[in-house]
Amino acid sequence: MTSKMLQRARDFEKKYLKYTVSEQPAFHVTGGIGWINDPNGFAPYKGEYHLFFQYYPYDTKWGPMHWGHVKTRDFIKWERLPAALAPDSEYDRDGCFSGGAVEMPDGRHLLMYTGVRNVRLRNGKIQAFQTQCIAIGDGVDYEKHSLNPVIDARFLPEGGSTEDFRDPKIWREGDLYYAAIGNRCADGSGTVLIFRSPDAVNWEYVSVLSACHNQYGRMWECPDLFRLDGKDVLLVSPQEMAAIGLEFHPGNANVCLIGSIDRENFHLHRDRVQAIDFGLDFYAPQTLLTKDGRRVMIAWMQNWETSSCKPSELRFMGQMTLPRELSIRDGRLYQNPVRELEKYRGVKIDYYNVLITGETSLRGIRGRSMDMTVTVRPGNESSSFKWFRLYLCRDGEHFTVIRFRPDISTVKVDRTHSGFPHDIVNIREFPVHLHNGELKLRVILDRYSLELFINDGESAASFVLYTPENADAVSFSSEGAVLVDVEKYDLEMK
Ligand code: FRU
Repeated sequence: MTSKMLQRARDFEKKYLKYTVSEQPAFHVTGGIGWINDPNGFAPYKGEYHLFFQYYPYDTKWGPMHWGHVKTRDFIKWERLPAALAPDSEYDRDGCFSGGAVEMPDGRHLLMYTGVRNVRLRNGKIQAFQTQCIAIGDGVDYEKHSLNPVIDARFLPEGGSTEDFRDPKIWREGDLYYAAIGNRCADGSGTVLIFRSPDAVNWEYVSVLSACHNQYGRMWECPDLFRLDGKDVLLVSPQEMAAIGLEFHPGNANVCLIGSIDRENFHLHRDRVQAIDFGLDFYAPQTLLTKDGRRVMIAWMQNWETSSCKPSELRFMGQMTLPRELSIRDGRLYQNPVRELEKYRGVKIDYYNVLITGETSLRGIRGRSMDMTVTVRPGNESSSFKWFRLYLCRDGEHFTVIRFRPDISTVKVDRTHSGFPHDIVNIREFPVHLHNGELKLRVILDRYSLELFINDGESAASFVLYTPENADAVSFSSEGAVLVDVEKYDLEMK
């Protein structure tokens, strides 16, 4: 039965979504109207890929969390479905927080999420109670289970926080369901706990999969766990992270732990810890396995640090990254846009071995919806160049700049002049590696965003932009001689 609260959200969508269509990016998921944050329940269901998200339709600010819903066949074209969950029960009255989804053996669609209930204590403090709940449905309508919550504080290991216990990632293995859930342990820092169940209703605690002991931030939000290229991979989104070199930025960060799980104790032994995305706008990634065996990741293309800043006329806040195919190479996580994007490539313009010595633009190289790869190498064998800059989304007033400095092997992206109405963090610098003396920059632009993939997925960086759409010029500039190859495709929704 659809509750009054869920019906209200669905009626609101019906009434207003049609008016915001013209504001949307072409192929990045938004809520259409209102606020979104984390992707939820990103999983295959009945031959399609479903994506839910943290959602508050009524305002462009975070509010009592609902789950919005879309689905796709190719990760580029999405169909909007009515809101799936509303915080309409006593145990989730303050929000249906993040979680996952899985297809049940009998063909039903199982959602697992965190129900939040805030209680004011005698001393005036508000205490959150976070528990894990399930809802079962047919891909459109979902019924919350009568035995909710199915995991509560009683299941926690000693010292586990009941206030920070959230974001179940659920999957099936053999005849069992497993869930990896974020928590804070006695030392106040992030852990991921594993639970197991034969029916998704009766759960048992299994183990601490990984604990950071204050090394990588505090609460570990939104865990995602999978096997890839012979490794076990855990993605987490730590809060209050301290910066570490240029690899990890402070605040709400994103971390990938690569290693192997010892199946007896269900504990992750780490080989490597790395940032997932170096941009300003990337958080809470989730992954799924496609029919043809690809591990595909999507994330909130935003960060809590910058989430209160957008042009006031836009009626939506928050978008998802482009889904990305993951792989492990040389022990590191690689990511590239899903290959389906290539079906949407239109006109191609390319240039090879163009010598850049000052500021240059190239005929036909411009646009705001494009997939462009720029390969950069020294133009002079005897001396290197000092820096190379790629300017995007440019007019007399605006620009976004990607700067590469070979002497310190970094790329810096600066979006100070990219349409933001307030002063927020706008610059990020991160390490890159040259391969045979070359750096490859793949730039995906879609109206309000720039996603950058370096050296065929060795690193990625995501940025929201609010630059007016007619600022579409591209230019190249360097100090010292640089040779570039440019291959640019317009992206066209068919
Ligand atoms: C991460 C997060 C989750 C929580 C959700 C609430 O961005 O804080 O931990 O479930 O957002 O909207």
